[in-house]
Amino acid sequence: MKTKIAVFVSGGGTNLQALIDAQGKTLVSGEIVLVVSNNPGAYALERAKKAGIDTALVTKRECGSQAAFEAKLKEILASHGIQLIVLAGFMTILSADFTASYPRRILNVHPSLIPSFCGEGFYGLRVHEAALSYGVKVTGATVHFVNEIPDGGEIIAQRAVYIEPGDTPETLQRRVMEQAEWVLLPQAAEQVCAELQK
Ligand code: GAR
Repeated sequence: MKTKIAVFVSGGGTNLQALIDAQGKTLVSGEIVLVVSNNPGAYALERAKKAGIDTALVTKRECGSQAAFEAKLKEILASHGIQLIVLAGFMTILSADFTASYPRRILNVHPSLIPSFCGEGFYGLRVHEAALSYGVKVTGATVHFVNEIPDGGEIIAQRAVYIEPGDTPETLQRRVMEQAEWVLLPQAAEQVCAELQK
């Protein structure tokens, strides 16, 4: 039996797409059975629907509190028998209570080489803006387990990407995705799924 994966998204979902495309190739020990979004406008939801994957929309606004939001998430995960959660551009921080409920069962992809440019407030384009304004010459992506410290869980995999002259946050974001995130995330998901089956 394959490990049942839920992917949590908030935006465009290119990392979700990389996971979908990796199924049956890089990703063989796990299967994406659910995509959860906290944003009704997330294009990632369309990608999931096109791939025939169940979707759920859970918003903090409708739930009224972080605790109610996370209780709803847990209920949906349990009803789908989810064994592994992959955060793929999920732009909200989960509480210590939530992360402790799924020890070493939540992965996140972050668009820098942790411990640089990470933690609260570092997400999406902001990460690349920070890397460019610091003037680093190398950045990359990290896949890590999620614990109670934002971007602080054990690192599973990293890949470096060079900054090029004239890079903007947008060009750098794209190169980090293409050269690092979209390769690393399916590989790391496979590694963890295979481990869970031992
Ligand atoms: C990705 O670059 C991902 O690493 C980043 O948001 C983007 C989502 O793109 N995540 C974070 O910054 C989390 N701290 P996508 O929706 O196209 O996958």
